[in-house]
Amino acid sequence: ATDIVVLISGSGSNLQALIDTQAETNTRIVAVISNKPEAYGLIRAAQAGIPAVILEHGQYESREAFDQALMQEIDSYNPALVVLAGFMRILTPAFTDHYHGRMLNIHPSLLPKFKGLHTHRRALEAGEQEHGVTVHFVTSELDGGAPVIQARIPVLEDDSEESLQKRVLVQEHIIYPVAVGWFANGRLTLQDGRACLDSTLLPEQGF
Ligand code: GAR
Repeated sequence: ATDIVVLISGSGSNLQALIDTQAETNTRIVAVISNKPEAYGLIRAAQAGIPAVILEHGQYESREAFDQALMQEIDSYNPALVVLAGFMRILTPAFTDHYHGRMLNIHPSLLPKFKGLHTHRRALEAGEQEHGVTVHFVTSELDGGAPVIQARIPVLEDDSEESLQKRVLVQEHIIYPVAVGWFANGRLTLQDGRACLDSTLLPEQGF
């Protein structure tokens, strides 16, 4: 199996999807790390018998110092892949460079649309007819790395921020294990800034 470390800040429903699909994806989650002590995902990890680690960013004097400590903690598990699953921190270039080509993130929008926060609200406000979620490789550009897989949903007449968020989350739990499984099985790589599945370059922009 391919060893992975998952970083979370909150509920950890994506973490749960990854826990539940470890056999199918041929992965083993060797640690879960949260920057928030109250993150429910820590309980999910403990219930699955996975080491759950808290690294509070407030305990470090700078973003750089926190990222260095985080890197050390992650590397002590020697994972092949780092998976960001609702990890709500902006990462330093030293961190993103260190995991170049071996770190994935899931972002609740059809990137390159709506980078950053409050994606569902912003999609509604913009009058989008479609919305969705993107898994992408992580680079120093916030939510800007090469996209790997997207799921799209229609925006309905009476959608609210909450209803959209719920329907997008269902899709997240489907596509994240798919992307992680591709990587774990050697099918997904980052080549010259482009995601590559088997021998095929994936589209550079949202698709
Ligand atoms: C998910 O919707 C994920 O896409 C989003 O946070 C949520 C975490 O939920 N991530 C971001 O917004 C990253 N900028 P979860 O803790 O239940 O997996």
